[in-house]
Amino acid sequence: MATVNITIDGKKLQVEQGLTILEAARQANIKIPTLCFLKDINEIGACRMCLVEIKGARALQASCVYPVSEGLEIYTQSSSVREARKVTLELILSNHEKKCLTCVRSRNCELQALADELNIKEIRFEGETNKYKLDDFSPSIVRDQNKCILCRRCVSMCKNVQTVNVISAAERGFKSTVGCAFDLSLAEVPCTNCGQCISVCPVGALREKDDTDKVWEALGNSELHVVVQTAPAVRVA
Ligand code: FES
Repeated sequence: MATVNITIDGKKLQVEQGLTILEAARQANIKIPTLCFLKDINEIGACRMCLVEIKGARALQASCVYPVSEGLEIYTQSSSVREARKVTLELILSNHEKKCLTCVRSRNCELQALADELNIKEIRFEGETNKYKLDDFSPSIVRDQNKCILCRRCVSMCKNVQTVNVISAAERGFKSTVGCAFDLSLAEVPCTNCGQCISVCPVGALREKDDTDKVWEALGNSELHVVVQTAPAVRVA
């Protein structure tokens, strides 16, 4: 097995060639936060939460897609890395429906846990937000685009693992969405209701159908918002 020598946060490591920085860090019990990454399923470098600093590199790099090479000197907790992650997370949260108290994933949400971990108490970039209609026409899956963080795990799961391919990403920038082609509901495409998209969603954008909405509607809590509710990390990619 070919190996390379690298340094992460001052720790000298000999790691297998071909690993990513994230994999090498995890092997050495060095924690790097991730959101979109899902081993062998979604390794696309979309969310930028796993940024690290590499000595000599002009910009911060996404560790989940950056391969190790001989002599790399990596910093996972420098001030620029921590600030970049915080800004990125605040930007994601700024366009995320923050009804945490009424969300089925509250206290089991990777976004919520990460906000807690990065000590985010307020969001500096509140502004225009996208508003989408709830897709609850499927017999088993509810899709709420207002909570989607565009990590594309569901897209990879549906396409590459389940080979159903009814969820995809569309548009660009602020208009980016993840959903079915032509804005169709999950009920109008050949979804097999396998539910694997729900199992990989890091937030509450996809969930099993139940009577949660009716309950909150009956309680008159449809406008209940919280900025960020702190919670311990429960699910880790
Ligand atoms: Fe690396 Fe999302 S975890 S870019």
